[in-house]
Amino acid sequence: MTPEILISEERIRQRVAELAAQISADYAGVDDLLLIGILKGAFIFLADLSRAMTVPRSVDFLALSSYGKRGAFQSGLRLVMDLRESVEGKHVLVVEDIVDSGHTLDYILRLLGARRPASLKTCSLVQKPARTMVDVSIDYLGFEIPDVWVVGYGLDFKDQFRTLPYIGSIPPE
Ligand code: IMP
Ligand code: MG
Repeated sequence: MTPEILISEERIRQRVAELAAQISADYAGVDDLLLIGILKGAFIFLADLSRAMTVPRSVDFLALSSYGKRGAFQSGLRLVMDLRESVEGKHVLVVEDIVDSGHTLDYILRLLGARRPASLKTCSLVQKPARTMVDVSIDYLGFEIPDVWVVGYGLDFKDQFRTLPYIGSIPPE
């Protein structure tokens, strides 16, 4: 199966450059920006975004796994890998691949917020606004997309398609 192109490689490249420029401008003068990528899905976006930025930055990762039925009112989330460093007093930007219901980002914001960062903001490559039911703020958003299953540029279906250079959609099962 070949996913249908929803967002081309070129559009992603341009938007990532714009986001990196905006983030770099907003964090000008900050010397301890910490980018936290959420594994696995954010690894490619974070790699490109972080390299296009111009302010001092470091990177760390969190891995979560979800269990329970997707689309359930509250599916369970489990932290499977924590950060290597403390976030206390640091300017933290969470980098996610996708905001669907919003539960995952909400969980991450609660987890990190409790650790007393100097600031805490969010960046997501895509969001499905029609499905988002938790009121989470996305400070930097790449694209709004319709309610379709998307793969590529880090996003997967059953762990496949993550390394596609574009974002594509696949038909419902
Ligand atoms: P949430 O519903 O906002 O908590 O999103 C949960 C997780 O579901 C995301 O972090 C993704 O890993 C996954 N997800 C949701 N929609 C898609 C999609 O269209 N493609 C790939 N993964 C998705
Ligand atoms: Mg994710």
